[in-house]
Amino acid sequence: MTRINDHYQKLQAGYLFPEIGRRVAAFQQDNPDAAVIKLGIGDVTLPLVPAIIEALHAAVDEMGSQAYGYGPENGYPFLKEAIAQHDYAARGVEIALDEIFVSDGSKQDSGNVQEIFDVGNTLCVTDPSYPVYVDTNVMAGRTGDADETGRFQGITYLPATEDNAFTPGPPNERVDLAYLCSPNNPTGAVATKENLAQWVAWARSNDAVILFDAAYDAFIQDPELPRSIFEIEGATECAIEMRSFSKRAGFTGTRCAYMTVPKAVMGRSASGEAVSLNALWSRRHSTKFNEVPYVIQKAAAAVFSPDGAAQTAEQVAYYMENARRIRGGLGDAGFAVFGGEHAPYIWMRTPGGASSWDFFDQLLERSHVVGTPGSGFGPAGEGYFRISAFNSHENVDEAIERIRKGFGS
Ligand code: MLT
Repeated sequence: MTRINDHYQKLQAGYLFPEIGRRVAAFQQDNPDAAVIKLGIGDVTLPLVPAIIEALHAAVDEMGSQAYGYGPENGYPFLKEAIAQHDYAARGVEIALDEIFVSDGSKQDSGNVQEIFDVGNTLCVTDPSYPVYVDTNVMAGRTGDADETGRFQGITYLPATEDNAFTPGPPNERVDLAYLCSPNNPTGAVATKENLAQWVAWARSNDAVILFDAAYDAFIQDPELPRSIFEIEGATECAIEMRSFSKRAGFTGTRCAYMTVPKAVMGRSASGEAVSLNALWSRRHSTKFNEVPYVIQKAAAAVFSPDGAAQTAEQVAYYMENARRIRGGLGDAGFAVFGGEHAPYIWMRTPGGASSWDFFDQLLERSHVVGTPGSGFGPAGEGYFRISAFNSHENVDEAIERIRKGFGS
């Protein structure tokens, strides 16, 4: 028989969110009358804004009058120009168009990017972290087995705890690759310029590469906080950044994101020669990916139009109002809550020291509310729980009320 990739056998059977979906579906089957409120996966609940819909319609009409075949490698200039101008130049960062690679999602990018790195590279993640970072590296064979706590050999885990405000600094030892996410999924913590400067200094003195996930940058409320790692001096020499239209503009089902790989970020070949990661990623992307559809890129570009920017900002504000309500409501009820000020996620300590999955089950049973167990994001997430702000105000208020009642506060 054909050999499988045995590294997959090291992983837990299912990816976190399908496992939650499975448990919720089983509960709903047994309790068909329960009105379950889902604050689990961070998936948008508001429709695409009018400016995006108009752009989609117009692009569809264009496709009826002219052939749009394969698009330009790495994305249409109209979208990359808008990105370079609004996401970077507007914040004092100079990024060239050939450093931007339009893709169909940051989830994919954060897994695919490792293909340009040697399988023997070491890596670090903050713990907890978005599960894709660890799982994809396990699949690639960059780790050993997991120990009894769920930590994989070959990965340096940097615990994000209440003591370090869920923003751990760089490791003491040298590693090749560091995954960082700010605003953070799942803790909702946000890195300051000082935090990121520490990481950039570490990466430069260790010849390491930072893989920076900024999928939630639009949720940052304080203009002084960095939205891009490239706002930090020297970062264009040691970091790759992932940004997404998913949460900022409701594209979770529409699919559009981009990865920025500055030409100055280098890696080393076996013979010791410095090689531009931009050139490698360009080779990989153009070989394995055939572009986000024209109509979707037009829709993404509309996010930067004056109307699109205003309308999507309103949606972000709507979700952030939910975050404020959850943080306030659960905090007033005596729960220890974190995050939710610059991110659509609230991180809470499970009441009574319950394990994350036990609290998941209790919450579903007693309150008919779905959240995400902290341990699903890494061993240091045990004893914590993530509540997402993606839902309606009404459902959020109702969920808070049910949680307060269900847990006796
Ligand atoms: C999450 O809930 O962590 C995210 O929505 C998952 C994702 O973006 O893939």
